[in-house]
Amino acid sequence: MLKTLVTLLLAVLAIVLIGTAVVYSGVINVAADDPHSSPVHALLEVARERSIAVRAEGIEVPDLNDPELIRSGAGNYDAMCVACHLAPGVAGTELNQNLNPAPPDLTNRDRPDDPASDFWVIKHGIKATGMPAWGKSVADPYIWGLVALLEQLPSLTAMDYRALVATSDGHQHGGGEMAPLDHNDEHPDTDDRPAGKDQADTHQKAEPATNPEGHHRADGSEHMH
Ligand code: HEC
Repeated sequence: MLKTLVTLLLAVLAIVLIGTAVVYSGVINVAADDPHSSPVHALLEVARERSIAVRAEGIEVPDLNDPELIRSGAGNYDAMCVACHLAPGVAGTELNQNLNPAPPDLTNRDRPDDPASDFWVIKHGIKATGMPAWGKSVADPYIWGLVALLEQLPSLTAMDYRALVATSDGHQHGGGEMAPLDHNDEHPDTDDRPAGKDQADTHQKAEPATNPEGHHRADGSEHMH
């Protein structure tokens, strides 16, 4: 009995030592352009699916067909999500193409229709993937607006989408909104806006995603492709 126990302890110790040596050797490549091996990828995929499914259970989904809810989602989606998740008429962005894991194209018709999971993911984000936890600055009703927009996104034409965004209140979600990094936007009131006050931020976007020729860097210089 004692012999078995000692053998077991030694085996555990060996595994811990080997694990530590592997980590410290630097052999694990954290580069985003180095894909996971397929078993690791499969494991992470299952862990993510189960984690979200268990936590989204019991979330009550409101009426997502309310046109005003969809409209509010459009303004916020355009300000916060397009760069990673694309939109009707927006085929590819640098963030969408260079992130690993790649942000899913949310205009895709084959995406599972699961509003409760979408709500949970938008609110809490997904660790170490680039998907932010928007719940830290976006109140629940506005997250439902984003979910309502996602329900419509695959069936919208580029024109429908732009019309929805244009008639929305822009980037507005109950406080915590920040000005986008693009300094070409017109923000006459940004600096003296009371912190956390509910105020429409109806900037005219320079439409970086729909202008494939060039965009402006944070320092204002033009960057052509
Ligand atoms: C910086 C890039 C980035 C931004 C900005 C971003 N996301 Fe994501 N999002 C991701 C990535 C990456 C994933 C996939 C993570 C994974 O594979 O586990 C993701 C996953 C999702 C998912 C789950 C989709 C699925 O089918 O699994 C939803 C829903 C989502 N994002 C909605 C949004 C919304 C709404 C916004 C804007 C409020 C947003 N995201 C902004 C990167 C981003």
